[in-house]
Amino acid sequence: MAEFKKIGILTSGGDAPGMNAAIRSVTRYAIYKNIEVVGIMNGYQGLLDSQLRSMLEGDVSHVIDRGGTMLYTSRCEEFKTDAGLRKAVEICKQNEIDGIVTIGGDGTFRGANDLCKYGIPCIGLPGTIDNDIACTDATIGFDTAMNTVLNMVDRLRDTGESHARCNVVEVMGRKAGDIAIHTAIALGAEAVAIREYVFNEEYLYEKMLTAKKNGKRCFIVIVSEGTGRLFSEALAEQIQTKTGISTNFAKLAHIQRGGSPSLVDRVLATRMGCEAVELLTNGIAGRVVCLQGRDIVSVDIKLSQIMDKMLNNTLKSGDLDGIPPENIEMMQKRVNERIEYKKFQYDLVDILSR
Ligand code: F6P
Repeated sequence: MAEFKKIGILTSGGDAPGMNAAIRSVTRYAIYKNIEVVGIMNGYQGLLDSQLRSMLEGDVSHVIDRGGTMLYTSRCEEFKTDAGLRKAVEICKQNEIDGIVTIGGDGTFRGANDLCKYGIPCIGLPGTIDNDIACTDATIGFDTAMNTVLNMVDRLRDTGESHARCNVVEVMGRKAGDIAIHTAIALGAEAVAIREYVFNEEYLYEKMLTAKKNGKRCFIVIVSEGTGRLFSEALAEQIQTKTGISTNFAKLAHIQRGGSPSLVDRVLATRMGCEAVELLTNGIAGRVVCLQGRDIVSVDIKLSQIMDKMLNNTLKSGDLDGIPPENIEMMQKRVNERIEYKKFQYDLVDILSR
């Protein structure tokens, strides 16, 4: 194995709090191992445009507490083409980049996998607030985003209690209702609506009317954006019409993506960043770093993508071709556990607010 001398690092897709903490740990841990670090600005687009900067320890001072990503981010169509990938390889070779740590979500991992196929070793770190990467228990940014939701909705509850109102709050999560379910539990919400399950509106109206009769003044309903563009706002109107309870609608949108990362995200990002450096310098590539239980482990990028498809029910014929049965079984088991856990939590929201 040729000596590993220079590591590239980039962030791509939607930003997430904790990305800077990951950039810091990759940078400092690599330098500690005598490896040079190059920051690639603006994600894969920046790689194609040779937007590179060398990174020293001081460059990542005072970033562990900052939201956003100091390397900036973008979405890049050219990177999906053969010509784009060849150009990326050429730029890596010219700049003697031996491998890249890519931080982002499923789109980022697709790019990393492609780059691996073209001969540039890559490791993916899951950085997205949505927690929609099946192979890891938590993604970088998920915890902070949920805490932001709590902080905002606790305020809505104060005023809702004073005025006897309901607040329907839309939270992020294009494909996964994880933010919605967890925050609904933590807020003691009346109900949660996510794209994964059919929502029973009539049941909610009945439940609210009974609670109102028993003296309840403030109601919180959390809706995940994955339910569709107009669902949450329409639900707020319907609640008011069907129950007579004054109802406000709030969409938290990108507020959830910003802010100083929580302790949990800073520690997770730091541990994952060190693991990425360990893997690359040990000649291991094409993997996603994950949290499973208390452990930081890694999973093959291709398997991680298949698990995402299993979770989202988007597997196509041929996707499992060539994969050993024991791997398929392992993936299905993990995905099933995740689905069961989600359903259990979803049911809890209702049970604990009756
Ligand atoms: O990071 C994931 C996510 O927050 C989704 O929940 C949301 O749909 C999407 O990003 C919006 O991203 P953007 O507005 O940056 O395209």
